[in-house]
Amino acid sequence: MRVLSTNISSIKTIIIGKQEMQTGMYKKPIAEGIFLTKLGVKNDAVVDARYHGGAEKAAYLYGKNHYSFFKERFPDADWELGMFGENITLDELDESALNIGDVYTLGEAEVKISEPRLPCNKFGYRLGDPKAIKAFAESNYPGVYVQIIKEGKVNPGDLMKLKVSQPEKLSLTDLYRWFLKKSQHAHKAAELIANPHVTENIKEQFRKVLTKERILLEAEKYVREQLEGEGSGHDWWHIKRVLNLSEKMAKQYPDADLFVVKLGALLHDIGDHKFHDGDHTMGPKLVGEWLNDHSVDSESAEKVLEIVAEISFKGAKVATPMSSLEGEIVQDADRLDAIGAMGIARTFAYGGNKNREMHNPEHKVEDHENFEAYKKTTGPTINHFYEKLLLLKDRMNTEYGSELAKKRHQYMVTFLEEFFEEWEGKR
Ligand code: ADP
Ligand code: NI
Repeated sequence: MRVLSTNISSIKTIIIGKQEMQTGMYKKPIAEGIFLTKLGVKNDAVVDARYHGGAEKAAYLYGKNHYSFFKERFPDADWELGMFGENITLDELDESALNIGDVYTLGEAEVKISEPRLPCNKFGYRLGDPKAIKAFAESNYPGVYVQIIKEGKVNPGDLMKLKVSQPEKLSLTDLYRWFLKKSQHAHKAAELIANPHVTENIKEQFRKVLTKERILLEAEKYVREQLEGEGSGHDWWHIKRVLNLSEKMAKQYPDADLFVVKLGALLHDIGDHKFHDGDHTMGPKLVGEWLNDHSVDSESAEKVLEIVAEISFKGAKVATPMSSLEGEIVQDADRLDAIGAMGIARTFAYGGNKNREMHNPEHKVEDHENFEAYKKTTGPTINHFYEKLLLLKDRMNTEYGSELAKKRHQYMVTFLEEFFEEWEGKR
């Protein structure tokens, strides 16, 4: 690998949306070379030390060979060397061949492979299109941050050569993929935390993932204990089905926070009004206590509480919007489990559990105006199809949920046709 260009910047003010920001992204080639120190590149501007700069990210290197990939997709940007905010543009960079902890000589300096760069909104701004952030995340071209093992000068034309390679290989691209989808790679956490060359910043993020996995296991245990053997169709297996379906749906919506979705699905029925004599304030109360006892971070806890408070069907004429994407997903999954074959089974289980008649032609269907009226109903089980279940397909939040609901809905319609034909003795 050879150095094509050495680049530094002064601070520039940009406006993203309505927000004024300062950035050190606009690096310009300087012919006289740069000096790498342990804490960064001499005379280079670093604005946000959380993301750039400091010992673990002292300098950023990028490959000229990746420019064309982005140039084709974002041709209107003012393309020049230093475009990616890199201090050093190399002629060729293959991130999959770089291993974390490997040491390279670079001009007079020695550098250690530290971390991949993460896409940020300033990068989107630099390329003139926020879509660039996603393209960067999906590419295998994150570029590389290095730590400085030996300080020294780097000039255009200098070579970068492998000096020490680590026995256990962890490629920069693997780390990049795992880090971008941390919660899906919880199983990699122990290995990364044990690796002495992985940076503290990355380890910390994976420790959080492990904490979340533990919380989910605790929640599962708690809910299972509470609802195991429940006889009205709100038992542990209902929760498990909603959890599985929510997880499947969440994978279709990459913006959804999988931890919130799973925790919301697990806890959604813990404080259901039916278990507490119609008191629907018990859900948020019990779940709030649980979240607090298990030190769930406040942002996730708030969203889970919102899900628990908002999820329930409250009557034919009562709208039940969800405040978050995660809530929309869990509500759809819960409602899918209330319709189709599963819905039919649960509804008769519920009616039996409450000693209700199965069907009574003299008992009219009601359209409930409010939650209180809906909760009080003691009508025959068949009425529940008309008072709730057949209304659900048009009240789904997500497109994916809506597709599944159509099929399940049709199954109930067919069942009801058969039911009444047989009731009348026509078949
Ligand atoms: P949500 O999940 O929206 O809070 P519920 O807990 O009221 O809704 O309902 C869950 C399931 O319990 C229903 O889909 C149905 O199978 C059963 N169920 C609830 N109320 C009745 C009822 N009055 N008659 C028959 N089944 C009921
Ligand atoms: Ni439920």
